[in-house]
Amino acid sequence: MSDPRDPKSANTMWGGRFAEGPSAIMTAINASIGFDQRLYAQDIAGSRAHAAMLAAQGIISSKDAEAIGEGLLAILSEIEAGNFPFTPDLEDIHLNIEARLTERIGEAGKRLHTARSRNDQVAVDFRLWVRDQCDQAIAGLTGLMRAFLAQAEAGADWVMPGFTHLQTAQPVTWGHHMMAYVEMFARDRSRFQDARNRMNECPLGAAALAGTSFPIDRHMTARALGFDRPTANSLDSVSDRDFALEFLAAASICAMHLSRFAEELVIWSSAQFRFVRLSDRWTTGSSIMPQKKNPDAAELLRAKLGRILGATVALFTVMKGLALTYSKDMQEDKEQVFDAADSLMLGLAAMTGMVSDMTANREVLKAAAASGFSTATDLADWLVKALGLPFREAHHVTGALVAMAERKGCDLPDLTLEQMQSVHAGITADVFGVLGVENSVRSRTSYGGTAPDQVRAQIARWQKALG
Ligand code: ARG
Repeated sequence: MSDPRDPKSANTMWGGRFAEGPSAIMTAINASIGFDQRLYAQDIAGSRAHAAMLAAQGIISSKDAEAIGEGLLAILSEIEAGNFPFTPDLEDIHLNIEARLTERIGEAGKRLHTARSRNDQVAVDFRLWVRDQCDQAIAGLTGLMRAFLAQAEAGADWVMPGFTHLQTAQPVTWGHHMMAYVEMFARDRSRFQDARNRMNECPLGAAALAGTSFPIDRHMTARALGFDRPTANSLDSVSDRDFALEFLAAASICAMHLSRFAEELVIWSSAQFRFVRLSDRWTTGSSIMPQKKNPDAAELLRAKLGRILGATVALFTVMKGLALTYSKDMQEDKEQVFDAADSLMLGLAAMTGMVSDMTANREVLKAAAASGFSTATDLADWLVKALGLPFREAHHVTGALVAMAERKGCDLPDLTLEQMQSVHAGITADVFGVLGVENSVRSRTSYGGTAPDQVRAQIARWQKALG
C-alpha cells in the first residue's frame, strides 16, 4: 500500500485505480488544506456525530465508534496545540484528519467514512462554520446597537443639522440620528437570524449525492449537531451554497451600513465640521504633520464593503451555471467567505469601539443646526397654520425670506418683523417662536419624528428589546 505522506505515490484515500501520483502543480491547484483547515473543529464534530450514529444503527461496532470518537478528540487537541502534520498531498481537512485518525487508531479509522462522502462532509462542516458566524454577527450587532443606544440616550435632545444632499435640511436631534443606525443594524441582525434559521438543516447523510443504502439515522446526526432537521433532498444537500450566499448578502448590507456611518465619522471629525471627537484609541497620527489625528479606523470601515461585496460577487460567479450536483468549483467558496466573515467581525468590533468612545460636540452641533436656514420649513408650516396659506404659496413666501436673509448675510430669526412683513403683510411676531431650532425639533412629534419625546420612546423600546 502506498504511503499517504509520500508525494510520489498514488493517494491512499482514493488512489486504488491510479498508477502514479498527481503532478506537483495538480497538488497545488487541488489542495484546499491551506485554508480549509479552519474547518477542523466542525469536521471533527461532524465525524463524531456520524460515528456515534453508525454505531447506534449497528453499522459499525461500538468499540470502533469509541476508538474513533477518542481518536478524533486527540486529533482536536493536536491541531489546537499546533502540532498536527497537515499535508497538501492529502488535499483537504477531511482527508488530513481521516488519514491521521487511521494512523493513530488503525483499522477502526478506516470505517469512519462508511455511508458518507466528502461531499456531504464539506457541506455539513461549512454550514456549521457559517452558522457560527451568523451567531457572531448577531452578537456583534447587538453590541453595536447598545453603543448607539448609549449615545442616543446621552444626547436625546441635542440639536444638530439634519442633511439631505449633505446640505442642511432641517434641525434634528443627535439621539434621532444615532437611533437611525440602531434601526439599520437591527434589520441587519434580523437578516443574519433569518439566514441562520433557513440554513439550520443538516446535509450529513446525503452521502456523495444520492443518499446511501446503509440504514443511517439522519435525524440523530442532525440533532447531535444542533440542526432543526435533516435536509430533504440529497442532491440539493451536496450542491447548494445558498446558505453561504445569504450570509454574504447579509454581511454586504451590514458592511454598507457600517460604511455610511464611517463616512459620517470622517466628515464629522474633520476640523471643518468638529461635530465629534474620536478618541485616541481609534485614530492615528501623521509621521510628518504633528497636528494630525486621522480617522483611519473609520476610513478602513468605509472601505471594507469592497472586499465583502467582492466575496459575494465571487461566490455568486462560482455557483452560477453549475449543473447539479457537487463540482470542484465549489471548493472556491471558502476563502471568500472566510475573508468576508473576518472583515465583518473586525469591522463590527472596531465600529462598536469607536461609537462607544466618541464624544459629540454639543455646542458645535447646536450652532450648525441653526445655520443654513434650517428652520425654513418651520416658517413655511407656520404660514400655513397661522395664516391659512396653501403650502405651495407658503413655500414661495419662505423662499423669498430666505433670499432676503441671504442677501443681508444673516439667518432667518435675525430678520426684523418689518422686513418679514415686506414680503408678506400678514406675518406677526408669533413667527419667531418657530424659528428657533429647539422649538423646531420639539414640534416634530409625528411617530418616528425627531422630537426628543419621540426619540426617548424609541430608546426605551430598544432598551427593553435588547434587555
Ligand atoms: N475540499 C473539497 C471542497 O472543499 C471537499 C469535497 C471534495 N469532494 C470531492 N468529491 N472531491 O469542496
